Amino acid sequence: MNGDPVNWWHGAVGYEVYVRSFADSDGDGIGDLRGIRDRLPYLAGLGVDLVWVTPFYPSPQADHGYDVSDYLGVEPTYGSVDDATALIERAHELGLRVVFDLVPNHSSSQHPWFLDALIGRDAEHRDFYVWRDPAPDGGPPNNWVSNFGGPAWTLDERSGQYYMHLFLPEQPDLNWANDRVRTAFADIIDTWFARGVDGIRIDVAHALVKDEQFRDNPLLVEVAASSAPGDRFKAFDHVHDQDQEGVLDIYREWNRIAAKHDAMLLGEVYLLQTERLRRYVADGDGLHLAFAFATLHTTWDVDEIRTTLGGLVEAGGDDFAWPLGSHDDPRAATRFGGGEVGARRARAYLTLLCGLPGVPFLYQGDELGLDDGDLADDSAQDPIAVRNPGAAGRDPVRTPMLWEAVEGFGFTTGTPWLPFGANRRPEQAAAAQQGVPGSPLERTRDLLRARRELPALRKGAGSQWLADTGPVIALRRHPEDTSAADVVTALHVADGTGATGPASFRLPAPGRLVYASDDGVEVDGTTLRLPPDTAVFVELTS
Ligand code: GLC
Repeated sequence: MNGDPVNWWHGAVGYEVYVRSFADSDGDGIGDLRGIRDRLPYLAGLGVDLVWVTPFYPSPQADHGYDVSDYLGVEPTYGSVDDATALIERAHELGLRVVFDLVPNHSSSQHPWFLDALIGRDAEHRDFYVWRDPAPDGGPPNNWVSNFGGPAWTLDERSGQYYMHLFLPEQPDLNWANDRVRTAFADIIDTWFARGVDGIRIDVAHALVKDEQFRDNPLLVEVAASSAPGDRFKAFDHVHDQDQEGVLDIYREWNRIAAKHDAMLLGEVYLLQTERLRRYVADGDGLHLAFAFATLHTTWDVDEIRTTLGGLVEAGGDDFAWPLGSHDDPRAATRFGGGEVGARRARAYLTLLCGLPGVPFLYQGDELGLDDGDLADDSAQDPIAVRNPGAAGRDPVRTPMLWEAVEGFGFTTGTPWLPFGANRRPEQAAAAQQGVPGSPLERTRDLLRARRELPALRKGAGSQWLADTGPVIALRRHPEDTSAADVVTALHVADGTGATGPASFRLPAPGRLVYASDDGVEVDGTTLRLPPDTAVFVELTS
């Protein structure tokens, strides 16, 4: 925000590492912390600033690490606490910041707290979780549903009460109305910050606090019980199981802990209404950044992109992180049409995201131009797919990284836990693209270099949208340093209009082309000619 001290994350570019699929150092087919550490020079060379590492804590892996059984340890398959601190140290040597993933909404059902809670109603940790008596008919206490299918309640036969879980039954929700839970997590984050981590990405950050009366959520549309979990979840208006006012108090406390360590709080706030999302970062005393997931929901439609991003930037773009993709959602290249077309559009879209205030985020492999891995049905690993026949899981976006053009793609010398995908080709590997002009990898490197070198993008002070209509979306950014130049980011979305030629766009002043996501761009005085599905940074020269 204007006038605020600039923190290290302002102007940064983020990169998400999905631990299981990034790099396997010991040949067991599963990515690990040493593998990540060894590949950090690649990330530094790519030009990202902060690396978010998905959960590597001890876990039965019911949801691939998002079911934590010890918040301060490391799953042996992934390494040790020493490997985690060595990773942080190496990252710091390379000038990178490291953000770990904290999963505070729920623990694993194998966490000692939950095992103790199961002993009975008087157990010491019983109240660490959310227990309710059955409804009068013996069924679940209310109509809440799990994100992963079925009701959000499972009956514990022994005590006769239900416990709540917004995800799998193996992921019981923690009870944030209990001060002891708050104290326990304050200690956990303080410990990781003291171990050197620069920030935390907070899983399901919008849902920790629930309605005190556990009221039913209003049903918006009738859906069959057999429909996909996502559709069932969306059938309800989630006014009581998420986004409660009190959740911000938790982040105010964590903000004070983070301040002691100059650490950053980044929320997975999966709320698509801008005004709801905005609250989490609005006052500067809660989360420092919140992911704006609306970026993942736009189709390749100029008005949709303009309206969505326009509203978010106006609402305070400095405090949003803009994901191009994630381990939970189809890759941008797939959403935008797949293959070469999809990769070209994804690259253009990333350019636009890099032109916004706030922190753009790549998901591993985006820089290689990858679309989703093509997997056979019988290779399903994601619990969403395994437990809900016919439902699309998240495996296609979690296929292992392609490092080298060899068998195992340099990811592993063993058998990968998830296949690479039938559509993967050796020439897509990072080593095969390295140094090849025009390759997705080199274009991404050029993009991030350009962003870093343009003060208006790196340390901006205000922005304005230039085109309300037409096939070009353009944002003008002003630099904080008034001796530096303004920069226009422009994207030509050729969406179903049949346009195959370039779009002409009038710049507010003559400009110099600094970066183009593809070839064929021309800048002539104030005229910018943009081929379809291409984006640019233009530095205004007067
Ligand atoms: C978040 C994670 C997702 C996980 C879920 C439950 O949405 O990104 O991968 O399954 O939370 O922890």
